[in-house]
Amino acid sequence: MSAGIVNALLEVKDLQVFFKGIKTITALSGISFSIGESETLALVGETGCGKSVVAHAIMRLLPSESRVKGIVKFRGKNLLELSEKEMIEIRGKEIGIIFQNPSLALNPVYSIGHQLAEPLHVHRKEKKERALSMAAGALKNMGFANATEYVRYYPSWCSGGMNQRFLIAASTMLDPALLIADEPGKGLDRKCMSELETELKKLKVEKKTALLLISHDLGFVKRLADRVAVMYAGEIVEIADSSSVFESPLHPYSKGLLNSLPEKGFIPIPGFSPSLSNPPSGCRFHPRCSLRKMHCTENHPDLTEINGRAVRCFLYH
Ligand SMILES: Nc1ncnc2c1ncn2[C@@H]1O[C@H](COP(=O)(O)OP(=O)(O)O)[C@@H](O)[C@H]1O
Ligand code: SF4
Ligand SMILES: [Mg+2]
Repeated sequence: MSAGIVNALLEVKDLQVFFKGIKTITALSGISFSIGESETLALVGETGCGKSVVAHAIMRLLPSESRVKGIVKFRGKNLLELSEKEMIEIRGKEIGIIFQNPSLALNPVYSIGHQLAEPLHVHRKEKKERALSMAAGALKNMGFANATEYVRYYPSWCSGGMNQRFLIAASTMLDPALLIADEPGKGLDRKCMSELETELKKLKVEKKTALLLISHDLGFVKRLADRVAVMYAGEIVEIADSSSVFESPLHPYSKGLLNSLPEKGFIPIPGFSPSLSNPPSGCRFHPRCSLRKMHCTENHPDLTEINGRAVRCFLYH
């Protein structure tokens, strides 16, 4: 099955997230997927479709005005049922997360070395000196020739690309089994993107880290992901092996996303993403879909299995 795999490391089942306000926003309406050990699953889709909400819901980092339903099973435990104390143990130690803005994620008042050494000191009770030398060792492994210098640097002294690599080092100091990377390349130039890609590939090969990769850069996704889940308006509309999605996408929205790639001629998808406080009736993509039938405007398609992949579209029912 493409949406789920046997012996999954992470299994997300029917995840729903609501934000209460003047109008309730249903940011996620029943998201299900799984990630196996050392597997990379990418979440793609236009801005506002709910990718970051998925990441924050898994890590239990959503704001208090949110309501979350469903199951987020990690190594057999439902994270949504754990106490905050138990969750603190999971964050960083078993699941690492890197956000899109490294300058905000790194603390400006502490040195890079301090921020890399802190998790070792706190969680593994390593002595400060030893934790610091392990931090320098981690940077050396990442190809920083003068690693012992860099541990004394502060985030504001470094470029965005370097800080993003420091952030990856900080998020993986404790060898988490799963790393969630939410738009890790946003704002980085081509050279930094390529370094980031090398770093993420190394984690997968050398440390067998599983990765939930969120990125709007489909070229980056194509080079890194084993499987791809395409999201639209708070739902998964297609999930399959990366090569199937890129070579023969099924859902009209997936096809549209790929057509907007430079090599396919930058053809934009007409129309706009719908509001999540009042999504369209029937298939959420119907107002923008050139293949819609009357049936699509009134009925909501399920995510259906087809040849080992899953798609949410009446064309395949
Ligand atoms: N704190 C919040 N309060 C209210 N609505 C939110 C909040 N965070 C996210 N949302 C809603 O969830 C939707 C998905 O957001 P997000 O996951 O950040 O999208 P993206 O796919 O760009 O990462 C947004 O369009 C917004 O409507
Ligand atoms: S269900 Fe209908 S409207 Fe929705 S994507 Fe498929 S063809 Fe288009
Ligand atoms: Mg986001």
